[in-house]
Amino acid sequence: MRTGLIFDLDGVLISTDIYHRQAWAAVAAKLGIAVDDDLADQLRGISRMASLECILRGYDRTLSMEEKEALAAEKNRIYRWFLESLTPASISRDVMEALSSLRRQGYSMAIGSSSRNAPFIADRTGLRPFFDVIIDGSMIRNAKPDPEVFILAASGLGLPPDRCIVIEDSESGIEAARSAGCFSIATGNAVSYGKADTAISSFGDLPDAIEIIRRKAAWQ
Ligand code: BG6
Ligand code: MG
Repeated sequence: MRTGLIFDLDGVLISTDIYHRQAWAAVAAKLGIAVDDDLADQLRGISRMASLECILRGYDRTLSMEEKEALAAEKNRIYRWFLESLTPASISRDVMEALSSLRRQGYSMAIGSSSRNAPFIADRTGLRPFFDVIIDGSMIRNAKPDPEVFILAASGLGLPPDRCIVIEDSESGIEAARSAGCFSIATGNAVSYGKADTAISSFGDLPDAIEIIRRKAAWQ
C-alpha cells in the first residue's frame, strides 16, 4: 500500500511562524501584553481565535465578541502584509529538495494546516504542485489539537490515518496526529515535546526519519 506524508505548513515548510508571532505581538502590544517565546510557542498550530483567547489570558478586562473579532481581523491584516513579500525563494533549498525527492519516490503528499491563509501561501511560493491535497483552516470545524485536519488529509489521499506520517512543529499538531492515529515526526519547537514517533533537526534528515517509522510500523 502507498504511504502518505502530511506536512504542517507554518514553521515546517516555511518560516511563516515568525510572521504569525510578529503580527500577534503588534496586536497584543496595544493591550499592554508581551508575546514572549513561551506564549509564541503556545500559539503554534491553534486557530486564530484560539490564539487570541490564549493571549487574553494575561489580560484583566473581558472583551466583547465584536472587540475580539476586530483584534483577530487586525492580526490577519498585519499577517497578510507580511505574506505579500513571499516568493518561491521563501522556501528553503532543503525543503524544496526533500519535497522533490519524496515526490519522485512515489509518496502521496498533503498539507494539513490550521491556517485559512495556507492556499495563498502555497500559491505564492510554488508549493502547491508538490501536493495531492491541501487541507486548510477554512475546511475544518475544529483546529489542532483536534485530529480533524489530519483525518481529512488522510482521507483526501485515499489512505487510512495509520498509513500516514505527519510532520509537525507544534505540540498541538503532534497531539492532533496522535489522536488521528497517524505516525508523527517532530521538527523545531515540537522536538522537545518528546511525544512524536521520531524527530528531525533539519529537512535533510527526513528520509531517515521516514525509514525509522516504516520499520516501526512494519510497512512493506
Ligand atoms: C497555524 C499557525 O498554522 O495557523 C497558527 O501555526 C495560526 O499560529 C493558525 O493561528 C491559523 O492561521 P490563520 O492564518 O488562519 O490566522
Ligand atoms: Mg506549524
